Amino acid sequence: MTHPSLPIALRESIARADHDHLLRFWDTLEASARDRLAGQLAAIDWDMLGELRRLSRSSGPEIVAGAAAGLAADLARATTPPCHRLGGDNANRAATAGRAGLEAGHFGAVLVAGGQGSRLGCNGPKGVVSVGSLSGATLFDLLLGRLRGIARRYGRPLPLAIMTSSATDADTRAWLADHNHGGLDPDHVLVFRQRDLPAVDDVDGNLLLDAPDHIAMAPDGHGGMLPALVAAGGLEWFADRGCRHVTTFQVDNPLSMPLHPEFLGHHLLRDAEFSTQVVHKREPGERVGVVASDGQRTFVVEYSDLPAALAAERGPGDRLRFHAGSIAVHAFALDFLRRAAAAPDPLPLHVAHKAVPFLDASGARVNPRTPNAVKFERFIFDLMPLARCVCLVEIDPAEGFAPLKNPPGAAADTLAHVQAALDAHARRLLHRAGVVVPAGVGVELAPWILDEADLAAVLPPDSRIEHPTVVGGGG
Ligand code: UD1
Repeated sequence: MTHPSLPIALRESIARADHDHLLRFWDTLEASARDRLAGQLAAIDWDMLGELRRLSRSSGPEIVAGAAAGLAADLARATTPPCHRLGGDNANRAATAGRAGLEAGHFGAVLVAGGQGSRLGCNGPKGVVSVGSLSGATLFDLLLGRLRGIARRYGRPLPLAIMTSSATDADTRAWLADHNHGGLDPDHVLVFRQRDLPAVDDVDGNLLLDAPDHIAMAPDGHGGMLPALVAAGGLEWFADRGCRHVTTFQVDNPLSMPLHPEFLGHHLLRDAEFSTQVVHKREPGERVGVVASDGQRTFVVEYSDLPAALAAERGPGDRLRFHAGSIAVHAFALDFLRRAAAAPDPLPLHVAHKAVPFLDASGARVNPRTPNAVKFERFIFDLMPLARCVCLVEIDPAEGFAPLKNPPGAAADTLAHVQAALDAHARRLLHRAGVVVPAGVGVELAPWILDEADLAAVLPPDSRIEHPTVVGGGG
């Protein structure tokens, strides 16, 4: 087979890697389809392919390369590091420091929104999933609305970078354009796209075609944030806007509080390079990563990587030995991200066995029901062992953790669970503000309402809500 329209060097790389099967349908392709496939082939890092093959065959722990290597051995002597608690030790001092940092404009935020919500059966960005039980507000509405409340309170725009992926980029940009950037200052919103990595066949480690003109690819995990942010000039973008720290948070958690002043204050007072919010993990089966330390390094072990016996082990007071559940809300010093980005290969690749559709030799599309391929992801929390000081802050999950992960009917983290958590949160806040809401009357808070002070601006104390209401709905 000859492929004259492909550059010679590329043809040689494909042949050397023994990947001629990717060109099996080349002769049948139209010019535009050839361009598409040629573009993908040119973007493949053929030197990295050997490493991907090696990882795909590894039967050892899922974490197999880079900074987190050796984690399995370290776990045997690891424990849960000490945590601050919101409202606990040093709360007032921390809150004051955090507020001062926000007033000075030293904080920006990164929303990781490259995931598709495939577990929810949704193909678009998870951010456009509607969760408001009265308003129909989407995850983007709630998360960006909360940042709008923070910008409003501290009297300055809040720089927000949103990470998309090949699967979510166009729809996320369209949503922002159609929704006035969620009410945020567009000059302070940066959209950047993470890269894709190829999936490989789990038998021979080869790349797969999922269409005659397309190689099966998948987003490179939220750890792709670091290289993608650097490539987009994002670190300078934040610095140009006065930021010294950025917090990161996930699109699936509408209650998340990435800019909670007390959290930021602990980060500042500890002079931490990496701070993270945790919740008390009570049961071994809870699907949250855990933060652990071996005395030298602090790191996150993903729930799927924690051996069942260790996950179930209990210590004093019947607490799980590893009870600091990561909710993936982090704060980073910008200088630390600069240093990490300059380190050689700072984030290891994790492997995940998945069912990936592919074309067989005859060109028929196969939709496997069981895993047939390996996808590769980097996790941003793998930067933790590189940080000189890591600070953990425990939050009450009722105040800051209601993730939407699962389809209706699952035991946890469904839309019904999220709506119940949002409802309970709203009622608690209204109750504290002296507002009466009879049981059975639906109520929602506009996302910009952060606390009783915001509520007082829209509702007199001793008010009573008689009908289903979105309090402060006008924004
Ligand atoms: C994640 C964390 C877990 C934590 C839990 C809390 C990882 C690997 N695990 O689990 O430790 O306890 O959340 O809710 O992060 N995303 C991208 N690009 C990607 C992949 C994911 O932007 O390539 C984003 C998703 O849009 C989502 C977030 O990362 O916002 C989490 O991804 P997901 O794969 O759903 O992680 P979980 O298994 O829920």
